Amino acid sequence: MRAARFHSYGAPDVLVIEDAPEPHALAGSVRIRVHATSVNPIDVLLRAGHLAPFLPLPLPAVPGRDAVGVVDEVGPGVTDAQVGDIVFGLGGVSDTTAEFAVLTAWSSVPHGWSTGQAAAAGLASATAAAALRALGDLKGKTFLIEGASGAVGGAAAAFALAAGATVIGTGRESNHPHLESLGVLPTTYGPGLAERVLALAPGGVDAALHSAPSASLPDLLSIVGDTSRVVTVIDDQGAARLGVRKVDARNESALLRYAAALGTDGLYTPRVDHEVSLADIVEAHTLAEAGSGKVVITLP
Ligand SMILES: NC(=O)c1ccc[n+]([C@@H]2O[C@H](COP(=O)([O-])OP(=O)(O)OC[C@H]3O[C@@H](n4cnc5c(N)ncnc54)[C@H](OP(=O)(O)O)[C@@H]3O)[C@@H](O)[C@H]2O)c1
Repeated sequence: MRAARFHSYGAPDVLVIEDAPEPHALAGSVRIRVHATSVNPIDVLLRAGHLAPFLPLPLPAVPGRDAVGVVDEVGPGVTDAQVGDIVFGLGGVSDTTAEFAVLTAWSSVPHGWSTGQAAAAGLASATAAAALRALGDLKGKTFLIEGASGAVGGAAAAFALAAGATVIGTGRESNHPHLESLGVLPTTYGPGLAERVLALAPGGVDAALHSAPSASLPDLLSIVGDTSRVVTVIDDQGAARLGVRKVDARNESALLRYAAALGTDGLYTPRVDHEVSLADIVEAHTLAEAGSGKVVITLP
């Protein structure tokens, strides 16, 4: 099969398109003919070698954590997928930017989503759904998201709004119109966050999600004032030091089905900023590394 691969860690230009061995569905998994995949921050970190000390990849490695496509093999024990189903979901740590990928968590694609939107939903929505599950019922609560303009934060905002929360979210100023269009009260990140949030929520903030590569976890905790109502998906050390929970995405189909159900109801539409073809894999990772929004890679 054709696949993007890297033979050594490094800058985006270590990525090449070449032939690679096809994976096959094992017990509890499905194989899809990939229509599109997305670039997540972890793909960039893995390719650059930043995670190699504790998460080494067998090289050459195929990048990518999530994908959408049509099921073409169903592994033993799978009862909720059939050949021909269009699904989005999660592969292993790094293996979806290829003609074929094996998913161990998946959901059918809501009718309203484009292929690119479904590709953008996998890891982001599973992470956001897991984080919100850890925070409990947000109905009637005021919820602060650091990184609401990102893929995880945007999914969390949609889920919290659907649950009946008031959502305040941070993002760069050029992303504020996008946040407003979601129904989020926008503010900027960085120094003075507590004052800006207080101005938007004089009654206080009940819960917070840290979903941006920032050092703001202590600020979020002091704004909320309760370790049990703050979660981070990023800061392991800060979480351990402050006593708040670190939540990681899980390859759990229920999380993806929850996101898809909200998609069907028009309450969650994954954001896509760039769509590039597989041949332009170097450009895809360069764009993602520059923090220029969600990048989706389409396959022929
Ligand atoms: N634990 C897990 O399982 C898991 C899973 C997925 C993701 N993650 C992590 O979660 C984070 C978000 O992922 P994502 O896919 O949503 O990434 P993303 O789409 O690139 O979003 C990044 C977000 O961070 C904001 N941001 C960038 N620099 C910032 C800064 N200096 N201070 C505050 N905010 C800043 C961005 O705002 P603007 O674009 O508006 O500037 C954007 O809202 C990443 O760090 C990723 O590694 C963890």
